[in-house]
Amino acid sequence: MQVRSGEEFRTIWLHPRDESVVQVIDQRKLPHRYETFDLRSYRDGILAIREMVVRGAPLIGATAAWSAYLAALEAPARSRIDFVRQAAGELAAARPTAVNLRWAVDRLLRRMSDSDGHDLAQQLRDEAEAICNEDIEICRGIGRHGLTIIEQIAASKPGQTVNILTHCNAGSLATINWGTATAPIYFAHQAKLPVHVWVDETRPRNQGSQLTAWEMAERGVPHTLVVDNAGGHLMQHGMVDLVLVGTDRTTRTGDVANKIGTYLKALAAADNGVPFYVALPSTTIDWSISDGLTDIPIEERDPHEVTHITGSENDRLCTVNTVPTRTPISNYAFDVTPARLVTGLVTECGICEASERGLSGLFPERAADSESLLRS
Ligand code: MRU
Repeated sequence: MQVRSGEEFRTIWLHPRDESVVQVIDQRKLPHRYETFDLRSYRDGILAIREMVVRGAPLIGATAAWSAYLAALEAPARSRIDFVRQAAGELAAARPTAVNLRWAVDRLLRRMSDSDGHDLAQQLRDEAEAICNEDIEICRGIGRHGLTIIEQIAASKPGQTVNILTHCNAGSLATINWGTATAPIYFAHQAKLPVHVWVDETRPRNQGSQLTAWEMAERGVPHTLVVDNAGGHLMQHGMVDLVLVGTDRTTRTGDVANKIGTYLKALAAADNGVPFYVALPSTTIDWSISDGLTDIPIEERDPHEVTHITGSENDRLCTVNTVPTRTPISNYAFDVTPARLVTGLVTECGICEASERGLSGLFPERAADSESLLRS
């Protein structure tokens, strides 16, 4: 039985009785059904990433890593390295916006560069396990640092609830465990601080109503689901103390790409003096770019996500169309919030201002490496 919350929760793992199979939670079925999905080849990994069986920047990266291990298992002995390189290229192209995907694939390729192909599968398995274990520690770090923000707000309104608004799912399900934006919330809840979460529905895929709400319920965190358009109203009426969201890619200058609609929340937060923080693992920083609006490719997804809604009726999953069939649809999946609207970035190494100075202060070596790469 898979653990659904707490310390032992995982979103991806090796099958307990068959090491040629990687298992993930099928996120397309939540919250109606908790089912696992088997990855038996690297192509299953690509499908899982494309079809959003798995989603969320860190989990997408981890899925690519485990898929490269599967590629090494299925590769013909004579061309093992070439086969895995080809698979890695295909995995890297599976979704465009989350930078962790490219980061994980590059890390595996570096690991492969000193392999003669002999024990490649074992090496890639070690690397995939390391990526997952590191992600858990990174999220714990984000949780510890983000907790200090919630503690400060709680101290400023003794005996009252701290109301936090979040958008999309930057929770355990988007990572290996704990989540990015949710880690500080879970830590605050464990510390018995009175927190309440406004969960944005997050159309069109409803990651808020289907995933974040499920997670909050599993962990017993007080929460209320609201439609995406409610956030501004809540902020105008003093019902939000903090906006805390995740990100799929952050520029070296602190612009953040996140689920479509995040920018509107940042605008409303700025207008109402509500602190707007973004939680991110350093693996989400793209040190090679500085202008989020022009440098981050925004994924455009299938119009079907907008036209159709899936739910459960009498315990059966059903999908219905909600729009006129001839209406043209556009479906931008992400938007960019400029650094000037971000109060601070919460990382595993601490909290900083959303700027090049802030990020390079927390990660001086990575900033210096990228500086020299950009010059060369
Ligand atoms: O399109 P998705 O579901 O993969 O969206 C990505 C996300 O989960 C979010 O944008 C999230 O807030 C950042 S990932 C921790």
